[in-house]
Amino acid sequence: MFSSLRIVFLVYYIEFCQICAERKEGKRLVVIQESEYRVLGASGIRVSPLGTGTNRWWQGKDDEAVSQTFHSLIDAGLNFFDTAEVYNKGKSERLLGNCLKRDSRPVIVASKFAPYPTRLFRSQFMNALNASLSRLGRKTIDLYYIHFPYTLLSIETLMDFMAQAVREGKVRAVGVSNFSDKQMRRAAARLEKYSIPLAANQVRYNLLHREPEWNGVLAACRELNVALVAYRPLERGRLKSNTIPGATSASVSPMGGKGKRTSKEQVIRDTLQTIARQRGKSVSQVALNWLLRRDSHVIPIPGTTNVRHAMEDVDAFGWQLSDDEFAAIDSASSPS
Ligand SMILES: NC(=O)c1ccc[n+]([C@@H]2O[C@H](COP(=O)([O-])OP(=O)(O)OC[C@H]3O[C@@H](n4cnc5c(N)ncnc54)[C@H](OP(=O)(O)O)[C@@H]3O)[C@@H](O)[C@H]2O)c1
Repeated sequence: MFSSLRIVFLVYYIEFCQICAERKEGKRLVVIQESEYRVLGASGIRVSPLGTGTNRWWQGKDDEAVSQTFHSLIDAGLNFFDTAEVYNKGKSERLLGNCLKRDSRPVIVASKFAPYPTRLFRSQFMNALNASLSRLGRKTIDLYYIHFPYTLLSIETLMDFMAQAVREGKVRAVGVSNFSDKQMRRAAARLEKYSIPLAANQVRYNLLHREPEWNGVLAACRELNVALVAYRPLERGRLKSNTIPGATSASVSPMGGKGKRTSKEQVIRDTLQTIARQRGKSVSQVALNWLLRRDSHVIPIPGTTNVRHAMEDVDAFGWQLSDDEFAAIDSASSPS
């Protein structure tokens, strides 16, 4: 057990050293500049065009590996970290908080309130927010979301709670997650009474799941000037080129990724694979680049637990798909 931990640590350390060496030799060209940051709606908060999701940071990874991933991401110019109180009962927030303590460079931290049916009172909202602040070791959360709209409370009541949190200086910007366009509009209208803009709607958005384009959410984000923070931008790893060691061809496609495949999905994967090969990029980089180019309101937050993938995800930025490549992917992933 102890020796396998040491091997894991050694592997991460070697990867980390390789990345540092590549930076020194000038091989790693992508460092996201502040001038390239996107804005969280009308909040004025500027974030890197790609963020990082931390919902699996606790999964079998030691604090050191997580901390190296965190530092490498900041070195590469990424400043936007996503967590939630429900991610392993606060462990993701705690790990992120530990990283923040060790590195004082400024980052934008987003977390989420889960409006469970048992949480009906303002005091419960404030207690949950205070607990998140304490785990993160911060006085303020930059972007605080309502995690999902399935709640016994009205959207208006939840926005009233949020407005109080902003007034008390515990939250800088207000977001919602998994909200429909209508629900977003209700949230934005209520916040307007307090002169607070709705900064973001975090929804699932990727090339295998383009619903925000069809269900009105992307259109509402444009109209209301709200950031569309795209979670699961790699559809939990289904949009990547790696093969999984030991997996059988029945469970894993030639491009990697577990899950049931449809012929439509295969067409999307083949298109991404061809463009990735021609461009000398990975499939995940092409998939992320497509989302970045789709709309300036879109901010994907791929989740990763290791330095190599984190750096690969950052390198999805700093180059652009051609019009033809963009259109080919658009057509392959549009409903037929
Ligand atoms: N608001 C919500 O309801 C909600 C729901 C789900 C998720 N989220 C947020 O969205 C974030 C991202 O979603 P997700 O993590 O579920 O899905 P995802 O980002 O689509 O995919 C994550 C998977 O992709 C792999 N991966 C990442 N970069 C890669 C690369 N360059 N090459 C190959 N594989 C790569 C990761 O493996 P490794 O760990 O090995 O890199 C992991 O298995 C979460 O962390 C969370 O913050 C929000």
